[in-house]
Amino acid sequence: MQNTNTSLSSLIPEAERDFAACANINDLEQAKAKYLGKSGALTEAMKGLGKLSNEERPAAGAAINVVKQAVEAALKVRRDAILLAEQEKQLAGESLDVTLPARGQGKGGLHPVSLTLARVESLFHSIGFDVAEGPEIESDFYNFTALNIPDNHPARAMHDTFYVDAADGSLDYVLRTHTSPVQVHYMQDAMKNKTDMPLKIIAPGRVYRVDSDATHSPMFHQVEGLWVDQNISFANLKGVVQDFLQRFFERDDLQVRFRPSFFPFTEPSAEMDMSWNGGWLEIGGCGMVHPEVFKHVGIDAEKYRGFAFGLGIERLTMLRYGVNDLRHFFNNDLRFLQQFGR
Ligand code: PHE
Repeated sequence: MQNTNTSLSSLIPEAERDFAACANINDLEQAKAKYLGKSGALTEAMKGLGKLSNEERPAAGAAINVVKQAVEAALKVRRDAILLAEQEKQLAGESLDVTLPARGQGKGGLHPVSLTLARVESLFHSIGFDVAEGPEIESDFYNFTALNIPDNHPARAMHDTFYVDAADGSLDYVLRTHTSPVQVHYMQDAMKNKTDMPLKIIAPGRVYRVDSDATHSPMFHQVEGLWVDQNISFANLKGVVQDFLQRFFERDDLQVRFRPSFFPFTEPSAEMDMSWNGGWLEIGGCGMVHPEVFKHVGIDAEKYRGFAFGLGIERLTMLRYGVNDLRHFFNNDLRFLQQFGR
């Protein structure tokens, strides 16, 4: 028995040497078999216990266990070392080169229509106009009636207007067809809140019409302008619009032409054209606020006057950037949008 113990314990340094010689987990598993495998030295020693007498067996078993645990510990030490080395090697291979130039962040940019809206707002702001907003789902009253658009007016016809079905089947709500209803909201609120004159606002925003081709989109943008005070005249309207357009297009020689026209909510009314490439381009409508409109919002038409105008934002954008098809604005093609940068 003494003999067996000595030869058994010499297995420990032998195993340590064998394990140390293994460079990877596969080799280590092979080396393990020699000691702990099915016919490994320690397994055989365990089998040999059966041949011993009952008195000898416990001590011999304990001795084998001591060696077995030592071999297993050596195996674990070596296995951990190999795994750690392999992990370090892998990390070294995958390591980040922090000196590489960065790929850069895609920053995104503003849509050309948004760029125009921001420019319009800042130019009007510089001459004292506030920005007002109104709902895009508008009641028939604000979109039409209060603007002196009678029941039989063609602008109310189904083919122009998106009607919103009310729960009760009535057609009292529409997607606003223009930004002019914001005039009504603003003047009503101003009267209610006893706001001091003058009322001086622009109202930019989305409008909707049943219309779609290269120059019409079912959704587009307008900016409304309104200036109400005691002595507002058509000359003020012309000055404001011309000054705005010259600054918007950065051209002092830009001409503006006013052609007599008709809108139910202004009187007199005019179409605004601007000089462009030797010709004239229509860019919006305007006029002096109709007394009927003042009546609807409770402003004394004997005492106050006002002008209003509406400009097409997409049209301004197309002219400023040389875009020839309105639909580019709504297709979301990055090749188009990226040209506007920032
Ligand atoms: N709301 C009119 C339109 O959409 C434009 C306009 C605004 C005309 C203000 C006169 C005054 O066509």
